Order: sequence, then structure tokens, then C-alpha cells
Amino acid sequence: AVLYVPCDAAALAVGADRVADTLAEELSARGVDAQIVRNGSRGMHWLEPLVEVETERGRIAYGPVTPADIAGLLDTGLLEGADHALCHGLTEEMPFLKRQTRLTFSRCGITDPLSLEHYEAHHGFLGLKRSLEMTPAEIVQEVTDSGLRGRGGAGFPTGIKWNTVLKAQGDQKYIVCNADEGDSGTFSDRMIMEGDPFVLIEGMAIAGIAVGATKGYIYTRSEYPHAIAILHDAIQIARKAGILGPSVMGSEHAFDMEVREGAGAYVCGEETSLLNSLEGKRGIVRAKPPLPAIEGLFGKPTVVNNVMSLASVPIIMDRGARFYRDYGVGYSHGTIPIQLTGNIKNSGLFETAFGLTLNELIYDIGGGTLSGRPVKAVQVGGPLGAYFPPSLFDTIFDYEAFVERNGMIGHAGIVVFDDTVDMLKQARFAMEFCAIESCGKCTPCRIGSVRGVEVLDRIARGDQPEQQVELLTDLCDTMKMGSLCALGGFAPYPVMSSLTHFPQDFHVKPLTDA
Ligand code: NAI
Ligand code: SF4
Repeated sequence: AVLYVPCDAAALAVGADRVADTLAEELSARGVDAQIVRNGSRGMHWLEPLVEVETERGRIAYGPVTPADIAGLLDTGLLEGADHALCHGLTEEMPFLKRQTRLTFSRCGITDPLSLEHYEAHHGFLGLKRSLEMTPAEIVQEVTDSGLRGRGGAGFPTGIKWNTVLKAQGDQKYIVCNADEGDSGTFSDRMIMEGDPFVLIEGMAIAGIAVGATKGYIYTRSEYPHAIAILHDAIQIARKAGILGPSVMGSEHAFDMEVREGAGAYVCGEETSLLNSLEGKRGIVRAKPPLPAIEGLFGKPTVVNNVMSLASVPIIMDRGARFYRDYGVGYSHGTIPIQLTGNIKNSGLFETAFGLTLNELIYDIGGGTLSGRPVKAVQVGGPLGAYFPPSLFDTIFDYEAFVERNGMIGHAGIVVFDDTVDMLKQARFAMEFCAIESCGKCTPCRIGSVRGVEVLDRIARGDQPEQQVELLTDLCDTMKMGSLCALGGFAPYPVMSSLTHFPQDFHVKPLTDA
């Protein structure tokens, strides 16, 4: 029999290692010859540790499993996929998975993350192989035609970025993968790095061949120790197999990469700050221009892409631009791995084509709040994303639709709050977060965020709230327009959306023109 117990950090955090150990002990005590594969996560976090067993009918899921459940599960026929209180039937038929369109995450949770054999058996390296038969310009064109946009948050067209680097002059070019994933409520980068690292390696190799870069760096945070360990191993395996190195899969292209750890500063997820940190300097933002695409790492032309953008490239190159482009709505093509967190029943990762409404995501897929209380607000796009009230839950997941409503999808994290949340406190948190994480380079952010906290504290004390709200609005405008990077520039979004949609929490009358 083949059993699966995830090695993803979210599963480990709730005891997956102990479950795997107990399972191994029980199986050997019963003299059963079974293999335990440590797979990535399927992304149904409320069911972790999710144990699966391979049967003739397909894989059957059980969860959440604790070590104390193992003996009972084996007694009732776990190895045959027998029914049990923890059994969810065929994994692929579970509604949360069945409703998804898994392109980027097609292998995650299915394979052993470090098995090249598994990777190749599930369409691995087909995108790279096809790329090796194309010219760099053709690869860039294919990515451009796919409509893929930067999944880190800004949504800039990936192909256009690659084209700038392809055309830039430089004796050395780099591919930098932004794996800093600082947004609250997001974990898609981590999940793919832990659950399917070869897809990121393949995506980076394709990027390297496309723009003429021979060296790649994955910049991630020290809070991701499991991802770092898996990436180190995966890179070594890929090198040994001739996927990375002086001749990528026997071609004339050279490409190699390494992993670098940051110390967890939020601003190091901003691309220029990240580049400074990668160069061993303080993580402080650089003014743009020059764009990193022209003068990036060590002053050389550099592609800086988020993990999700790079991990989406192999399937685009394998199935073609048209295949990918046909998913989605408007100018948001393809799929997006949405991360549902906070006060929500079904928390986890849901990859789907753009176009679902917040209502569908929060209620139909997420199952509403975990507390059972009414939803009061959701924050989309990290700590600097806007808060949306239920009256805006008809907004569809699409870059432009969110911008139209003064929000952003960012890295696609949705954090749900029930009616016990105090939006004034959430607004204060945003300003405080900005004050703590500010790199200090520009005044609107460095000073503005501190003043913002003070103003919000005065509102909380009931000290001339109407006047303070006016001051806050003015301050937010200054930060939005005058900040050098997105940290100071976006901090006003959670603040102003809280104030606009929940004026009662600020003890003021509704704003009319905000
Ligand atoms: P941006 O709009 O300034 O730039 C987007 C990207 O396009 C950059 O890589 C930039 O260098 C590139 N670019 C622009 N014009 C180009 C051209 N002509 N040729 C080539 N490249 C070009 O946005 P920024 O500041 O990079 O990112 C802000 C976003 O980051 C926010 O929207 C937010 O959602 C997101 N974010 C994500 C986090 C995460 O954890 N993933 C954390 C914090 C923020
Ligand atoms: Fe630094 Fe804040 Fe200015 Fe960004 S907005 S450059 S984080 S001070």
C-alpha cells in the first residue's frame, strides 16, 4: 500500500510528522509492508494532517488525523480506503478540490516534492523542453501572449518585463525570484516551494533561457525553513540530473541558481530593497528608474518575478499561450491561487480562473466564518490591502475590478473577519505596521505612519474625531501620492477603506466623498 502524509509546514504545524511516525510504527508492528510518501499539501488546511491512501478507486482522504486515530483507522481498513468518521472519500472528488482549476498547483499534494520521477510522470519539464526548441524572443512572445501578469501583487505583464530584460545590454543578467511572501494571509509561494519545488526551478530556467540570464537567486525569508531545506535539496537534485548547470538538459544554455535567506523585513519583499538585501546591503528601497529590468542585481539587467509568476510559466510553455489565456476575465488571464484565511471555516488554497466573486469565495467555497458569526469585513491583498464590507462582496476576482473599488488583489490573500472586529483598531494596525516596517527612506511613510497612529489614537479617545478624520484623510492622501514605494503608498488603503465603509467604528458620520 502507498500512503501519503504531507511534509508541508502547515501540516507539520499540526503534527504531520508525529502522524507519519505513528503510522510507520503501527504498520511495522502489524507486519504490513507499506510505503509512506511525504507529499506537499492539497491546500485544505482545515483538514491537515490529511492522510491519503492509494486504492484501486483512486486516492482516499482522511483528516484531520491525529496520532491517536491511527490504530483505529488501521483497524477499520484504512489501507483499503474503508469508510470512517474521518474519511472524505476520493480526494479528487472533494468539493473544495473538484471546483478548482489547478494549473500552477497541478502537482502540489499529489507528488513527492523531491522525486524527479514523480515530477516527470506528471508533465514535468515539458515546458522547459519546448522552450529549448525555441528562440529567446519566441519564448518571451509566448509568455506575453499568455496574458500572465505578475502574481506578486502589482499585476505587471510578465512577458513585457522579460522583453525589457531580453533587450537590455549586459554581460551578465539575472533571474531573481521574489519568495519573500510578506503579505498576511498568504502562503501560496511557500506551498509551491515545499510541495513542488521543481516547477519553480523549471520556471526560472525557462526565464533564464528567455532573457539570456545564466544565474538565478531565490530570495526567501528565514521564517520559511522547510521551504529553504526543500529548495536546497531540489536544486542539488536538478543539478545532478543536468537540468541546472553549464548545459541545461544538454543544450547550449547555462543556468544555475541558489537560495538566499532574508531576515524577515516586510520591505525586503519590495523588489529594489530585495536586490539591496541580496547584494548584502541594508534592505532599503532604491528609487525607480532605473528599473531592475535595466539595472538590477549588481547593476545588471534583472528579471524580478514572484514565485507564482515563475511557477506558472512551465504550464504556459507546455500547453501554449492560448490554453492559459482562455481562462479568466477581462485583462486577468489564467488562474490565480487564492488563499482563504482568518475567520473562515474552509481555510486553504483555492486555485481558480479569475472571475469568481468574493461572495462565492467566502461563502460557497470558504463556508463562511469559523465562529459562525456574520462576516463584517474581508481584507484582500495583505496588510496594506483594502477592507471590503459585505455590500462589496459582488466584486469579482480580477485586477481591474478591485482597483475600481479602491482595492487590490495583491498576492491574492483573503482574510475574513466576523462582526467582533473593531475597524478603528484595524486601521491603527495598518499605520503601526507601516511605522514599524518603513525603511525610512522617504518622509511621507517614515513620519506619516507615526502621525497616523497618533491621529487614530486621538479618534479612539474621542478627541475631536471629526477634525481628526479630516486630518487623517489628508495624511493618507499625502502618503498615497508622495511615498517612494508601495509600503507607504498603500498603507492608506486599509485605513481609508475602514473609515469609508465602517464610519461607526470611528464614531463619526459616514464620509460622503471618500
Ligand atoms: P510596480 O507597479 O512599481 O511594478 C511592477 C513591476 O513591473 C516591477 O517589477 C517593475 O520593476 C516592473 N516594471 C514596470 N515597468 C516596467 C517596464 N517598462 N519594463 C519592465 N519592467 C517594468 O509595483 P511594485 O512596487 O513592484 O509592487 C507593488 C505591489 O506589491 C503591490 O500591488 C502589492 O500588492 C504587492 N505586494 C506583495 C507582497 C507579497 O507578499 N507578495 C507584499 C507587499 C506588496
Ligand atoms: Fe521606505 Fe516607506 Fe518610503 Fe517605501 S514608502 S521607500 S518603505 S520610507
